Amino acid sequence: MDTYIKNKFNKYRKIVDEHLDKYIEVVYPESIYESMRYSLLAGGKRLRPVIAIEAARIFGAPTENIIPAACAIEMLHCQSLIHDDLPCMDNDDYRRGKLSNHKVFGEAVATLAGDAFLSYAPKLIIDKTPKSVSSDKVLNVLNEFFIAAGVDGIISGQIVDIDSEKKKISPQTLEFIYEYKTAKLFKLALRSGAIIAGADENSLNTLTSFAQYYGHAFQIYDDILDVTSTLQELGKTPGKDADVQKSTYVSMYGLEEAKNKALFLCSQACDILKSDNINSDILFGIVSDIVEGLKK
Ligand code: IPE
Ligand code: IPE
Ligand code: MG
Ligand code: MG
Ligand code: MG
Repeated sequence: MDTYIKNKFNKYRKIVDEHLDKYIEVVYPESIYESMRYSLLAGGKRLRPVIAIEAARIFGAPTENIIPAACAIEMLHCQSLIHDDLPCMDNDDYRRGKLSNHKVFGEAVATLAGDAFLSYAPKLIIDKTPKSVSSDKVLNVLNEFFIAAGVDGIISGQIVDIDSEKKKISPQTLEFIYEYKTAKLFKLALRSGAIIAGADENSLNTLTSFAQYYGHAFQIYDDILDVTSTLQELGKTPGKDADVQKSTYVSMYGLEEAKNKALFLCSQACDILKSDNINSDILFGIVSDIVEGLKK
């Protein structure tokens, strides 16, 4: 991503960070709020909320209309990470360059912090979306949120991901994991921004296809980094996938083919935006970040 686009991205990112900080205050019982704030404010690229804001901009909505939903989506993402790191799941000690939530607060609080986000986030959309946004749109965004968060989304992706450890799985099963555990959240982000802005069905479909290609490329890149990167670069433990014999693009097809597949998906993601004349530095920019990372 060149500096000009990076600056745009960071402007949105700052707005997200400020609101996330504001949205969760520590009150009694402090431990749950502290645990939620610990993971939520630990950094992270803020990709999903930023692209939600960007999708709203593309179709003409003011930033303030999407901020609550954008922050709610980051909370859902944060929930998925806290739970993903638990000993009963990926058993990861580090996240975002710090000890993972359960390492600091214990498994019970970490589990409950994840649970807490799952209701706190949609309530935020209801409470904080400006009243000028129609309740139809708010309901639509909530519907998308519940799809991504539930058994039509991350949960089923995570189930099949865990079920597929130490097993030979079909290419279709691998596709399912990537779509459900990762791409669905990007779909939620882009669709929410577009819905708030009143985009038409055709545009929603374009963004959904973009998120499908980008989400797959993103997860393949994450799996590649798990093999090629360091704890310092990643902020999470490398080599985790091989440790537990996860089924990933890398384990099934090898590093080279995984890279080629991710590059191909990136070009498809760009093509779909171009085919619908979607003009977005940020969306092209996040794709080019993966392409540049893969070429290193
Ligand atoms: C990590 O997502 C989870 C995956 C889907 C691979 P990110 O790489 O966006 O994590 P943060 O938000 O920057 O920490
Ligand atoms: C990410 O899969 C999917 C989630 C819903 C968190 P990973 O298990 O590969 O994510 P990391 O590598 O721990 O961030
Ligand atoms: Mg996992
Ligand atoms: Mg993990
Ligand atoms: Mg990973």
